Amino acid sequence: MATAETLAPVTTEEPVTSVGLFDLTRQRDRLGARIEARIDDVLRHGQFILGPEVVELEEKLAAFAEAHHAIGVSSGRDALTMALMALGVQPGDAVFVPGFTFSASAAAVAPLGAVPVFVDVDEDTFNMDPDALKAAIAAVKAEGRLNAKVVMPVDLYGLPADYDRISAIAAENGMRVLADAAQSFGAIMGNRRVGTLAPITATSFYPTKPLGCYGDGGAILTEDEALSEEIKMIRTHGRQGSGDEAMRIGMTARLDTIQAAVLLIKLEAFAAELDRREQMAALYTELLAGDFATPVVPAGMRSAWALYTIRVPNRDQVRERLAEMGVGTGLFYRVPLHKHPAFKQWAPDGLSLPVSERLADEVLSLPIHGDIEGREVRFVVDCLRKAVG
Ligand SMILES: Cc1ncc(COP(=O)(O)O)c(C=O)c1O
Repeated sequence: MATAETLAPVTTEEPVTSVGLFDLTRQRDRLGARIEARIDDVLRHGQFILGPEVVELEEKLAAFAEAHHAIGVSSGRDALTMALMALGVQPGDAVFVPGFTFSASAAAVAPLGAVPVFVDVDEDTFNMDPDALKAAIAAVKAEGRLNAKVVMPVDLYGLPADYDRISAIAAENGMRVLADAAQSFGAIMGNRRVGTLAPITATSFYPTKPLGCYGDGGAILTEDEALSEEIKMIRTHGRQGSGDEAMRIGMTARLDTIQAAVLLIKLEAFAAELDRREQMAALYTELLAGDFATPVVPAGMRSAWALYTIRVPNRDQVRERLAEMGVGTGLFYRVPLHKHPAFKQWAPDGLSLPVSERLADEVLSLPIHGDIEGREVRFVVDCLRKAVG
């Protein structure tokens, strides 16, 4: 639960006149002095690469997610590519990604010479549709040109994908599952946390993610010792331990020690921030239900609420009006993956992903973060009602 110590109390009764989509300044006010002290420790000991803070963070991330291994890496996108490398993805392999997600989910596949295959998403959860996945795998197998290798569900806006069904489909087809949990660290499915819902999970610490650092950063979590060792080699030029021989092709893809120091303090406040996000999402849903298409959270799941996203038919007009009223909103995402210029080469002629295409026209993300207050949510909702009216 949020406590006075971990989250700032309401500091003013001034009327709300604007609300930004994200606001990291309040978190900085709460945690800044402690973060600076930990950064100062790093500046003093000077182990900027894989220093003790990285090791400490990896232990704490693994403990938080109740996962066996956590490995700090340079970004969420690199985490995806590294996980695919560890899974042995190579030219001629197909990696199944949802059609409605951030471009990095597909871009991570390309450097390996593999092909992203776009799968439509579920109308309610916005996550990969297991039936569409089944059909896409069957089509790839029937064509016989690519080897169906990995399924990469994305936990969009912080909500875990349907890992039960997706894992079963992957197993039936002899495929592995890699979770793109860039937006969902801290979320829960049943009694398991993100990080353990797939054999290997990639997350991002981009500053505006639920757990964000002050630059680029990410992590890979896995239950598999061999994959964990492979990832550690990949992040340091393919070297094993302190040896200077390249045992495999690797990358320069470590989490900076300074970013680990920042994250160690932020992780202490993370559970309370997740609670605040959850409470404020519930308030939005209570105030909007009946009049707006609000997010659907299946039974047994808890979202990390990276974003609170509704569907609005005349979205662009509403967004403009909200901006005039001082409300920041976001469009995640305006273009489905198969329509990106860089990915058209992998979109067979006439490929249609109707749900992804509809969502891209209608989604609108409202302000949410670990310090947002109820009165700000009420302000946003009042403005939204005026904007659509
Ligand atoms: C779904 C998804 N995948 C991958 C990434 C890439 O993460 P990063 O920005 O840390 O490279 C993001 C980040 O925005 C994301 O939202």
